[in-house]
Amino acid sequence: MKNKVRAAVATALAVAASALSGWGWGCSGGDGGADRGGGSSALFRKDGGGRKRRRPERAGSGSALLRVQKPVLREVLLEEEFHVLRTLGEGAFGRVLLATHRRTGAKVAVKALSRARTQPADFYRELHYARALSPHPGVLSTFGEAMRATDADGAALWLLAAEAAPLGDLRRALPRRSPLSEGAAKRVARQLAEALSFVHSIGLVHRDVKAANVLVFTADLSVVKLGDFGSARPEGELAARPAGASTGALPPEVGAALRNERVPARAAADVWALAVLLVRITGGSCPWKAADAVADPGYAAFRRWQGRRAASPPSTFKRFTPRFLRLLRRLLAPEPRRRAPVTDVFKYLEDPWVVRSPVSVSPVSSSASPPSGVMSPPPLDRRVAARRIWDWLRSCEPEDLEAVCAGGPP
Ligand SMILES: Nc1ncnc2c1ncn2[C@@H]1O[C@H](COP(=O)(O)OP(=O)(O)OP(=O)(O)O)[C@@H](O)[C@H]1O
Ligand SMILES: [Mg+2]
Repeated sequence: MKNKVRAAVATALAVAASALSGWGWGCSGGDGGADRGGGSSALFRKDGGGRKRRRPERAGSGSALLRVQKPVLREVLLEEEFHVLRTLGEGAFGRVLLATHRRTGAKVAVKALSRARTQPADFYRELHYARALSPHPGVLSTFGEAMRATDADGAALWLLAAEAAPLGDLRRALPRRSPLSEGAAKRVARQLAEALSFVHSIGLVHRDVKAANVLVFTADLSVVKLGDFGSARPEGELAARPAGASTGALPPEVGAALRNERVPARAAADVWALAVLLVRITGGSCPWKAADAVADPGYAAFRRWQGRRAASPPSTFKRFTPRFLRLLRRLLAPEPRRRAPVTDVFKYLEDPWVVRSPVSVSPVSSSASPPSGVMSPPPLDRRVAARRIWDWLRSCEPEDLEAVCAGGPP
Protein backbone atom coordinates (compact mmCIF):
# COMPACT_ATOMS: atom_id res chain seq x y z
CA MET A 1 0.00 0.00 0.00
CA LYS A 2 2.80 2.33 1.06
CA ASN A 3 4.60 1.61 -2.21
CA LYS A 4 1.48 2.21 -4.24
CA VAL A 5 1.03 5.60 -2.62
CA ARG A 6 4.73 6.39 -3.16
CA ALA A 7 4.45 5.44 -6.85
CA ALA A 8 1.30 7.51 -7.29
CA VAL A 9 2.95 10.51 -5.61
CA ALA A 10 6.12 10.14 -7.72
CA THR A 11 4.05 9.91 -10.89
CA ALA A 12 1.90 12.91 -9.96
CA LEU A 13 4.99 14.94 -9.08
CA ALA A 14 6.71 14.07 -12.30
CA VAL A 15 3.66 14.86 -14.42
CA ALA A 16 3.26 18.15 -12.57
CA ALA A 17 6.95 18.97 -13.00
CA SER A 18 6.74 18.17 -16.69
CA ALA A 19 3.69 20.30 -17.14
CA LEU A 20 5.15 23.20 -15.18
CA SER A 21 8.41 23.25 -17.10
CA GLY A 22 6.46 24.18 -20.26
CA TRP A 23 6.75 21.71 -23.07
CA GLY A 24 8.48 23.87 -25.62
CA TRP A 25 10.72 21.72 -27.73
CA GLY A 26 11.56 24.48 -30.11
CA CYS A 27 15.01 25.82 -29.94
CA SER A 28 17.90 27.11 -27.97
CA GLY A 29 17.32 30.45 -26.34
CA GLY A 30 13.92 31.56 -25.09
CA ASP A 31 12.47 31.55 -21.61
CA GLY A 32 12.20 27.84 -20.87
CA GLY A 33 12.79 25.86 -17.70
CA ALA A 34 15.28 26.21 -14.90
CA ASP A 35 18.99 25.75 -15.43
CA ARG A 36 20.53 22.62 -13.94
CA GLY A 37 23.70 24.11 -12.52
CA GLY A 38 24.91 24.87 -16.00
CA GLY A 39 24.88 28.65 -15.87
CA SER A 40 23.05 30.19 -18.76
CA SER A 41 23.75 27.37 -21.18
CA ALA A 42 20.70 26.03 -22.95
CA LEU A 43 22.29 22.60 -22.60
CA PHE A 44 21.10 22.48 -19.01
CA ARG A 45 17.52 23.49 -19.60
CA LYS A 46 15.33 20.46 -19.31
CA ASP A 47 12.79 21.87 -21.73
CA GLY A 48 15.17 22.69 -24.53
CA GLY A 49 14.68 26.43 -24.06
CA GLY A 50 11.18 26.41 -25.54
CA ARG A 51 9.47 29.60 -26.56
CA LYS A 52 6.58 29.90 -24.20
CA ARG A 53 4.93 28.04 -21.40
CA ARG A 54 1.89 26.00 -22.25
CA ARG A 55 -1.04 25.09 -20.10
CA PRO A 56 -0.47 21.81 -18.29
CA GLU A 57 -2.05 18.96 -20.21
CA ARG A 58 -3.34 15.76 -18.75
CA ALA A 59 -0.96 12.86 -19.25
CA GLY A 60 -2.31 9.95 -21.23
CA SER A 61 -2.70 8.68 -24.69
CA GLY A 62 -2.73 11.47 -27.25
CA SER A 63 -1.45 14.10 -24.80
CA ALA A 64 0.98 16.78 -25.96
CA LEU A 65 3.74 14.82 -24.27
CA LEU A 66 3.57 12.30 -27.09
CA ARG A 67 3.58 14.79 -29.94
CA VAL A 68 7.16 14.82 -31.21
CA GLN A 69 8.25 18.21 -32.48
CA LYS A 70 11.23 19.05 -34.61
CA PRO A 71 13.86 20.76 -32.45
CA VAL A 72 16.14 23.54 -33.68
CA LEU A 73 19.64 22.18 -33.31
CA ARG A 74 22.91 24.04 -33.06
CA GLU A 75 25.72 22.80 -35.35
CA VAL A 76 28.91 22.15 -33.36
CA LEU A 77 32.27 20.43 -33.52
CA LEU A 78 32.16 17.66 -30.93
CA GLU A 79 35.62 18.27 -29.51
CA GLU A 80 35.11 22.05 -29.43
CA GLU A 81 31.89 21.80 -27.48
CA PHE A 82 32.97 18.95 -25.20
CA HIS A 83 36.21 17.68 -23.74
CA VAL A 84 35.76 13.94 -24.23
CA LEU A 85 37.11 11.92 -21.29
CA ARG A 86 36.22 8.34 -22.24
CA THR A 87 33.63 6.06 -23.81
CA LEU A 88 30.95 4.91 -21.35
CA GLY A 89 29.20 2.48 -23.64
CA GLU A 90 28.36 1.53 -27.19
CA GLY A 91 24.93 0.85 -28.59
CA ALA A 92 23.42 -0.28 -31.83
CA PHE A 93 23.61 3.18 -33.45
CA GLY A 94 26.34 5.08 -31.66
CA ARG A 95 28.28 5.53 -28.46
CA VAL A 96 27.94 7.29 -25.14
CA LEU A 97 30.84 9.44 -24.02
CA LEU A 98 31.77 10.85 -20.65
CA ALA A 99 32.65 14.46 -21.38
CA THR A 100 33.09 17.86 -19.83
CA HIS A 101 30.99 20.60 -21.34
CA ARG A 102 33.67 23.21 -22.06
CA ARG A 103 31.56 26.30 -21.47
CA THR A 104 30.12 25.23 -18.12
CA GLY A 105 32.61 22.66 -16.84
CA ALA A 106 29.78 20.19 -16.19
CA LYS A 107 30.47 16.48 -16.55
CA VAL A 108 27.82 14.83 -18.71
CA ALA A 109 27.11 11.65 -20.65
CA VAL A 110 26.92 12.58 -24.33
CA LYS A 111 25.04 10.16 -26.55
CA ALA A 112 26.49 10.48 -30.05
CA LEU A 113 24.40 8.79 -32.74
CA SER A 114 25.65 8.40 -36.28
CA ARG A 115 23.67 10.65 -38.60
CA ALA A 116 24.40 8.21 -41.43
CA ARG A 117 22.56 5.46 -39.56
CA THR A 118 19.93 7.38 -37.59
CA GLN A 119 17.03 9.07 -39.37
CA PRO A 120 16.23 12.61 -38.15
CA ALA A 121 12.72 11.48 -37.11
CA ASP A 122 14.21 8.69 -34.95
CA PHE A 123 16.58 11.10 -33.22
CA TYR A 124 13.86 13.71 -32.62
CA ARG A 125 11.61 11.03 -31.16
CA GLU A 126 14.28 9.72 -28.76
CA LEU A 127 15.19 13.24 -27.69
CA HIS A 128 11.57 14.23 -27.16
CA TYR A 129 10.63 11.20 -25.07
CA ALA A 130 13.88 11.27 -23.07
CA ARG A 131 13.24 14.91 -22.13
CA ALA A 132 9.51 14.43 -21.54
CA LEU A 133 10.19 11.66 -19.04
CA SER A 134 13.22 13.28 -17.37
CA PRO A 135 11.35 14.84 -14.40
CA HIS A 136 10.67 11.41 -12.92
CA PRO A 137 13.29 10.38 -10.32
CA GLY A 138 13.47 6.88 -11.80
CA VAL A 139 14.27 8.12 -15.30
CA LEU A 140 17.67 9.29 -16.53
CA SER A 141 17.67 13.10 -16.80
CA THR A 142 18.31 14.36 -20.32
CA PHE A 143 19.30 17.99 -20.70
CA GLY A 144 17.66 20.64 -22.77
CA GLU A 145 19.79 21.32 -25.76
CA ALA A 146 20.64 18.75 -28.39
CA MET A 147 23.04 19.32 -31.27
CA ARG A 148 24.14 18.31 -34.74
CA ALA A 149 27.85 17.69 -34.61
CA THR A 150 30.88 16.63 -36.55
CA ASP A 151 33.72 14.85 -34.78
CA ALA A 152 37.48 15.06 -35.39
CA ASP A 153 37.25 12.24 -37.96
CA GLY A 154 34.56 14.08 -39.89
CA ALA A 155 31.72 11.77 -38.81
CA ALA A 156 28.30 13.43 -38.75
CA LEU A 157 26.52 12.95 -35.41
CA TRP A 158 23.41 13.74 -33.47
CA LEU A 159 24.20 14.63 -29.83
CA LEU A 160 22.08 14.58 -26.72
CA ALA A 161 23.42 15.02 -23.21
CA ALA A 162 22.25 13.36 -20.01
CA GLU A 163 23.38 13.09 -16.41
CA ALA A 164 26.27 10.64 -16.18
CA ALA A 165 25.73 7.51 -14.06
CA PRO A 166 28.90 7.06 -12.01
CA LEU A 167 28.57 3.26 -11.84
CA GLY A 168 27.60 2.53 -15.43
CA ASP A 169 24.74 0.21 -16.23
CA LEU A 170 23.21 -2.63 -14.22
CA ARG A 171 25.18 -5.34 -16.04
CA ARG A 172 28.29 -4.22 -14.14
CA ALA A 173 26.52 -4.67 -10.80
CA LEU A 174 25.46 -8.24 -11.63
CA PRO A 175 27.95 -10.84 -10.54
CA ARG A 176 28.31 -13.50 -13.25
CA ARG A 177 25.64 -16.19 -12.81
CA SER A 178 24.93 -15.10 -9.24
CA PRO A 179 21.97 -13.19 -7.93
CA LEU A 180 21.87 -9.84 -6.19
CA SER A 181 20.91 -9.85 -2.53
CA GLU A 182 17.13 -9.93 -2.09
CA GLY A 183 17.15 -6.38 -0.70
CA ALA A 184 19.10 -5.02 -3.68
CA ALA A 185 16.88 -6.89 -6.16
CA LYS A 186 13.79 -5.37 -4.54
CA ARG A 187 15.27 -1.87 -4.62
CA VAL A 188 15.87 -2.24 -8.35
CA ALA A 189 12.41 -3.76 -8.84
CA ARG A 190 10.67 -0.92 -7.01
CA GLN A 191 12.48 1.87 -8.87
CA LEU A 192 12.00 0.29 -12.29
CA ALA A 193 8.34 -0.42 -11.59
CA GLU A 194 7.88 3.22 -10.54
CA ALA A 195 9.66 4.50 -13.66
CA LEU A 196 7.73 2.20 -15.98
CA SER A 197 4.43 2.98 -14.35
CA PHE A 198 5.16 6.65 -15.10
CA VAL A 199 6.15 5.86 -18.70
CA HIS A 200 2.94 3.85 -19.15
CA SER A 201 0.79 6.50 -17.49
CA ILE A 202 1.84 8.92 -20.22
CA GLY A 203 0.82 6.41 -22.88
CA LEU A 204 4.33 5.35 -23.84
CA VAL A 205 6.02 1.97 -24.02
CA HIS A 206 9.79 1.73 -23.45
CA ARG A 207 10.15 -1.53 -25.46
CA ASP A 208 13.78 -2.20 -24.49
CA VAL A 209 13.84 -2.86 -20.75
CA LYS A 210 17.10 -4.67 -19.99
CA ALA A 211 20.06 -4.43 -17.64
CA ALA A 212 22.10 -2.40 -20.19
CA ASN A 213 19.43 0.32 -20.11
CA VAL A 214 19.34 0.64 -16.32
CA LEU A 215 21.89 3.18 -15.08
CA VAL A 216 23.38 2.85 -11.62
CA PHE A 217 24.08 5.80 -9.33
CA THR A 218 24.85 4.14 -5.98
CA ALA A 219 26.68 0.92 -5.13
CA ASP A 220 23.82 -0.42 -2.98
CA LEU A 221 21.44 0.10 -5.95
CA SER A 222 19.28 2.48 -3.94
CA VAL A 223 19.42 4.85 -6.94
CA VAL A 224 19.02 3.33 -10.39
CA LYS A 225 17.36 4.97 -13.38
CA LEU A 226 15.78 3.82 -16.60
CA GLY A 227 17.51 5.19 -19.72
CA ASP A 228 17.59 4.79 -23.50
CA PHE A 229 14.27 5.87 -24.98
CA GLY A 230 15.47 5.17 -28.52
CA SER A 231 12.90 2.38 -28.94
CA ALA A 232 10.02 4.03 -27.04
CA ARG A 233 6.72 4.31 -28.89
CA PRO A 234 3.18 5.37 -28.03
CA GLU A 235 0.98 2.49 -26.88
CA GLY A 236 -0.60 0.81 -29.88
CA GLU A 237 1.77 2.22 -32.52
CA LEU A 238 3.05 -0.36 -34.98
CA ALA A 239 6.81 -0.85 -34.86
CA ALA A 240 9.41 -3.47 -35.70
CA ARG A 241 11.17 -5.02 -32.72
CA PRO A 242 14.02 -2.85 -31.31
CA ALA A 243 17.34 -3.43 -33.10
CA GLY A 244 19.41 -4.14 -29.99
CA ALA A 245 16.72 -5.92 -27.92
CA SER A 246 17.78 -9.16 -26.30
CA THR A 247 15.52 -11.98 -27.51
CA GLY A 248 15.28 -13.39 -23.98
CA ALA A 249 13.38 -10.28 -22.87
CA LEU A 250 10.84 -10.32 -25.70
CA PRO A 251 7.35 -11.58 -24.84
CA PRO A 252 5.87 -14.35 -27.02
CA GLU A 253 3.67 -11.95 -29.01
CA VAL A 254 6.74 -9.91 -30.07
CA GLY A 255 9.22 -12.79 -30.30
CA ALA A 256 6.89 -14.66 -32.68
CA ALA A 257 6.82 -11.73 -35.13
CA LEU A 258 9.15 -11.87 -38.12
CA ARG A 259 12.30 -9.75 -37.92
CA ASN A 260 10.91 -6.69 -39.72
CA GLU A 261 7.27 -7.33 -39.03
CA ARG A 262 5.59 -4.47 -37.19
CA VAL A 263 3.65 -5.25 -34.05
CA PRO A 264 1.72 -2.82 -31.82
CA ALA A 265 3.73 -1.39 -28.92
CA ARG A 266 2.16 -2.59 -25.67
CA ALA A 267 2.94 -1.76 -22.05
CA ALA A 268 2.48 -5.50 -21.44
CA ALA A 269 5.77 -6.08 -23.31
CA ASP A 270 7.62 -3.88 -20.78
CA VAL A 271 5.99 -5.86 -17.97
CA TRP A 272 7.31 -9.08 -19.47
CA ALA A 273 10.84 -7.67 -19.94
CA LEU A 274 10.85 -6.37 -16.36
CA ALA A 275 9.83 -9.82 -15.09
CA VAL A 276 12.66 -11.47 -17.04
CA LEU A 277 15.08 -8.93 -15.54
CA LEU A 278 13.72 -9.68 -12.04
CA VAL A 279 14.35 -13.39 -12.58
CA ARG A 280 17.91 -12.57 -13.69
CA ILE A 281 18.75 -10.35 -10.72
CA THR A 282 16.96 -12.45 -8.08
CA GLY A 283 17.75 -15.90 -9.46
CA GLY A 284 21.20 -15.33 -10.96
CA SER A 285 20.54 -16.20 -14.59
CA CYS A 286 18.20 -15.48 -17.46
CA PRO A 287 15.32 -17.96 -17.50
CA TRP A 288 15.41 -18.65 -21.26
CA LYS A 289 16.93 -17.52 -24.54
CA ALA A 290 13.54 -16.97 -26.17
CA ALA A 291 9.91 -17.24 -25.04
CA ASP A 292 9.29 -20.00 -27.56
CA ALA A 293 7.84 -23.19 -26.06
CA VAL A 294 8.82 -25.24 -29.12
CA ALA A 295 12.43 -24.13 -29.54
CA ASP A 296 13.46 -23.27 -25.97
CA PRO A 297 13.43 -26.04 -23.34
CA GLY A 298 13.72 -23.54 -20.45
CA TYR A 299 10.61 -21.69 -21.58
CA ALA A 300 8.79 -24.95 -22.34
CA ALA A 301 9.46 -26.10 -18.75
CA PHE A 302 8.20 -22.76 -17.41
CA ARG A 303 4.99 -23.04 -19.47
CA ARG A 304 4.36 -26.57 -18.18
CA TRP A 305 4.67 -25.31 -14.60
CA GLN A 306 2.67 -22.17 -15.35
CA GLY A 307 -0.11 -24.25 -16.90
CA ARG A 308 0.01 -26.58 -13.84
CA ARG A 309 1.17 -29.49 -15.96
CA ALA A 310 4.39 -29.76 -13.92
CA ALA A 311 4.64 -29.69 -10.13
CA SER A 312 7.80 -27.62 -9.85
CA PRO A 313 9.14 -24.66 -11.78
CA PRO A 314 12.36 -24.79 -13.85
CA SER A 315 15.66 -24.66 -11.95
CA THR A 316 16.22 -20.87 -12.29
CA PHE A 317 12.99 -20.39 -10.31
CA LYS A 318 13.75 -22.98 -7.60
CA ARG A 319 15.00 -20.50 -5.01
CA PHE A 320 11.93 -18.30 -5.28
CA THR A 321 9.18 -18.29 -2.66
CA PRO A 322 5.62 -19.21 -3.70
CA ARG A 323 4.69 -15.57 -3.29
CA PHE A 324 7.38 -14.32 -5.71
CA LEU A 325 6.47 -17.17 -8.07
CA ARG A 326 2.90 -15.95 -7.99
CA LEU A 327 4.05 -12.47 -9.00
CA LEU A 328 6.14 -13.90 -11.85
CA ARG A 329 3.26 -16.09 -13.01
CA ARG A 330 1.16 -12.93 -13.31
CA LEU A 331 3.82 -10.74 -14.96
CA LEU A 332 4.74 -13.52 -17.39
CA ALA A 333 1.20 -14.42 -18.47
CA PRO A 334 1.60 -15.58 -22.09
CA GLU A 335 -1.40 -13.58 -23.29
CA PRO A 336 -0.67 -9.84 -23.10
CA ARG A 337 -4.32 -9.11 -22.18
CA ARG A 338 -4.03 -11.25 -19.06
CA ARG A 339 -0.61 -9.95 -18.00
CA ALA A 340 -0.64 -7.94 -14.76
CA PRO A 341 0.23 -4.22 -14.91
CA VAL A 342 3.68 -3.18 -13.77
CA THR A 343 2.20 -1.73 -10.57
CA ASP A 344 1.54 -5.30 -9.33
CA VAL A 345 5.23 -5.41 -8.35
CA PHE A 346 4.44 -3.02 -5.46
CA LYS A 347 2.02 -5.53 -3.92
CA TYR A 348 4.78 -8.09 -3.45
CA LEU A 349 7.65 -5.99 -2.14
CA GLU A 350 6.92 -6.73 1.52
CA ASP A 351 6.95 -10.51 0.96
CA PRO A 352 10.04 -12.69 0.97
CA TRP A 353 11.22 -13.48 -2.57
CA VAL A 354 13.95 -15.99 -1.90
CA VAL A 355 13.58 -19.16 0.18
CA ARG A 356 15.65 -19.24 3.35
CA SER A 357 18.17 -22.07 3.81
CA PRO A 358 16.45 -25.29 4.94
CA VAL A 359 15.48 -25.55 8.63
CA SER A 360 17.79 -28.00 10.41
CA VAL A 361 15.91 -30.94 11.91
CA SER A 362 17.11 -32.32 15.25
CA PRO A 363 17.80 -36.07 15.28
CA VAL A 364 15.04 -38.27 16.79
CA SER A 365 15.66 -40.69 19.67
CA SER A 366 16.94 -44.22 18.87
CA SER A 367 13.66 -45.82 20.00
CA ALA A 368 11.88 -44.04 17.16
CA SER A 369 14.48 -45.10 14.56
CA PRO A 370 13.33 -47.34 11.75
CA PRO A 371 15.02 -50.74 11.26
CA SER A 372 18.49 -50.28 9.74
CA GLY A 373 18.53 -50.02 5.98
CA VAL A 374 15.03 -48.56 5.86
CA MET A 375 14.96 -44.95 4.70
CA SER A 376 12.41 -42.75 6.37
CA PRO A 377 11.61 -39.12 5.66
CA PRO A 378 12.82 -36.68 8.31
CA PRO A 379 10.11 -35.77 10.83
CA LEU A 380 8.13 -32.77 9.65
CA ASP A 381 8.19 -29.75 11.87
CA ARG A 382 4.56 -28.58 12.26
CA ARG A 383 5.56 -24.94 11.90
CA VAL A 384 7.43 -25.66 8.66
CA ALA A 385 4.47 -27.65 7.36
CA ALA A 386 2.04 -24.86 8.28
CA ARG A 387 4.30 -22.31 6.59
CA ARG A 388 4.46 -24.38 3.39
CA ILE A 389 0.70 -24.80 3.28
CA TRP A 390 0.25 -21.08 3.89
CA ASP A 391 2.76 -20.20 1.15
CA TRP A 392 1.02 -22.59 -1.23
CA LEU A 393 -2.39 -21.09 -0.47
CA ARG A 394 -1.05 -17.60 -1.10
CA SER A 395 0.46 -18.67 -4.43
CA CYS A 396 -2.83 -20.12 -5.71
CA GLU A 397 -5.08 -18.38 -8.16
CA PRO A 398 -8.63 -17.80 -6.79
CA GLU A 399 -10.06 -20.25 -9.38
CA ASP A 400 -7.78 -23.03 -8.08
CA LEU A 401 -8.90 -22.45 -4.52
CA GLU A 402 -12.51 -22.57 -5.60
CA ALA A 403 -11.83 -25.91 -7.29
CA VAL A 404 -10.18 -27.27 -4.13
CA CYS A 405 -13.07 -26.09 -1.97
CA ALA A 406 -15.49 -27.73 -4.41
CA GLY A 407 -13.63 -30.99 -3.82
CA GLY A 408 -11.66 -31.23 -7.08
CA PRO A 409 -7.93 -31.02 -7.73
CA PRO A 410 -6.54 -27.64 -8.76
N1 LIG B 1 24.04 8.46 -18.66
C1 LIG B 1 24.88 7.43 -18.72
N2 LIG B 1 25.83 7.28 -17.77
C2 LIG B 1 26.69 6.24 -17.84
N3 LIG B 1 26.69 5.31 -18.81
C3 LIG B 1 25.76 5.40 -19.79
C4 LIG B 1 24.81 6.47 -19.79
N4 LIG B 1 24.01 6.32 -20.85
C5 LIG B 1 24.42 5.21 -21.48
N5 LIG B 1 25.47 4.65 -20.87
C6 LIG B 1 26.19 3.43 -21.29
O1 LIG B 1 26.16 3.36 -22.71
C7 LIG B 1 25.44 2.18 -23.14
C8 LIG B 1 24.67 2.48 -24.42
O2 LIG B 1 23.74 3.55 -24.14
P1 LIG B 1 22.27 3.55 -24.77
O3 LIG B 1 21.56 2.34 -24.30
O4 LIG B 1 21.63 4.84 -24.45
O5 LIG B 1 22.62 3.45 -26.30
P2 LIG B 1 21.90 2.69 -27.48
O6 LIG B 1 22.69 2.96 -28.69
O7 LIG B 1 20.48 3.07 -27.52
O8 LIG B 1 22.03 1.20 -27.03
P3 LIG B 1 21.21 -0.08 -27.49
O9 LIG B 1 20.54 0.25 -28.77
O10 LIG B 1 22.25 -1.16 -27.58
O11 LIG B 1 20.24 -0.32 -26.36
C9 LIG B 1 24.58 1.78 -21.94
O12 LIG B 1 24.28 0.40 -21.96
C10 LIG B 1 25.47 2.18 -20.77
O13 LIG B 1 26.45 1.19 -20.53
MG1 LIG C 1 20.61 0.82 -24.78
